[in-house]
Amino acid sequence: MAQLHPIIEAAGRDQIHPPWAVMSESRREHTVRVGRLLWKWSKALGYKRKKRLRWRAAGLLHDALKGEDPAILRGEVEGGHRWPDPLLHGPACAARLRAGGVRDEKLLLAITYHTTGHPSFGNLGQALYIADYLDPGRWGKVRKRAEWRRRMPFDWRAVLEEVAAAKITSLIDRRVPIPPVTADFWRALV
Ligand SMILES: [Fe+2]
Ligand SMILES: [Fe+2]
Repeated sequence: MAQLHPIIEAAGRDQIHPPWAVMSESRREHTVRVGRLLWKWSKALGYKRKKRLRWRAAGLLHDALKGEDPAILRGEVEGGHRWPDPLLHGPACAARLRAGGVRDEKLLLAITYHTTGHPSFGNLGQALYIADYLDPGRWGKVRKRAEWRRRMPFDWRAVLEEVAAAKITSLIDRRVPIPPVTADFWRALV
């Protein structure tokens, strides 16, 4: 694997967010906890240090623009008009990373679709999707989330399906439209 990009290195090794990050303090802490889960899982899977740093960086960076105005973000994302406001922070973060010289396509895909899921996710995309949902700081489903965390990373496939089912069920319960990419992700899973 090539040398890590300095933004990825800073996030993965020193848990430092890029200067353009816009997040509340609690969101910042969420990204650190998600990074911690990814670090733990990648270590349990026996990955080498550089890959583990990359995984933790994905956790740190995924919500880096969560606090930014969607109207600003929309202009930075190719096809930005197709993204609903709450989902824009993923593709916008990937766009900023790309503009900064990051060319790690798997990491960029993972960040872009961390909320919706994507049928082309590799391990990193799936792991970020799961870790984001299993953050121990999240409210609700506390016991269930703890059980899912205990089963990671070795019962990965089953946890992924259960987490995706829970997330999609919650969209249906709240009468939120299911993004087409989420339907594609689900179809690819089952
Ligand atoms: Fe997010
Ligand atoms: Fe998140």
